[in-house]
Amino acid sequence: MRALVVYESLWGNTEKVARAIADALSSRGAVDIFDTDAAPSTTDGYDLLVVGAPTHAFSMSRPSTRADAVASHSAPHEPVKGVREWVGGLHRPTADTPTLVFDTQVDEPRLPGSAAKAARHQLHDLGFDTTVMQQTFRVHGYAGPLLYGEVERAIAWISKNVAADGAHPRAA
Ligand SMILES: Cc1cc2nc3c(=O)[nH]c(=O)nc-3n(C[C@H](O)[C@H](O)[C@H](O)COP(=O)(O)O)c2cc1C
Repeated sequence: MRALVVYESLWGNTEKVARAIADALSSRGAVDIFDTDAAPSTTDGYDLLVVGAPTHAFSMSRPSTRADAVASHSAPHEPVKGVREWVGGLHRPTADTPTLVFDTQVDEPRLPGSAAKAARHQLHDLGFDTTVMQQTFRVHGYAGPLLYGEVERAIAWISKNVAADGAHPRAA
């Protein structure tokens, strides 16, 4: 199995979950992990795709929400490209690549909308196999940190949905 993990992260919370997931997957096969600015423009050659994004304004980030994060909330990093733009630049995969999508969201208040849900739809429309339900991991405030136990919950989510031999996630 060869897996590609792609994440967008302004404060590092989504990155932390993505790295824990990549680490968990590495016992099942080869894993490449990139942020959205460095990620390849094709998923060809990968048997599994994992995508992680922070929820901004009830959905995936946009250039305006990322700029606002830096200007108004002192985010330390402003990706040029978010998950929305990265997925938007992909072509239809050669196979129905199994794809898992997660996001991070604030714990309080609980707001409607999810970057993962929106990204999952975008990926499904492109031809990725998004059978596995998206997952949300919670942070304290905009900057984080992640709630206690969220990294372990991410690893458990992978264990539940990706077979030990790697290639095909089981529907949750
Ligand atoms: C401009 C902006 C809008 C946001 N909108 C939402 C939102 O609608 N719902 C939510 O739960 N969190 C929202 N957040 C909080 C982000 O989800 C949080 O900053 C993110 O999970 C942190 O992950 P990161 O460290 O990987 O960037 C917003 C944050 C910013 C900066």
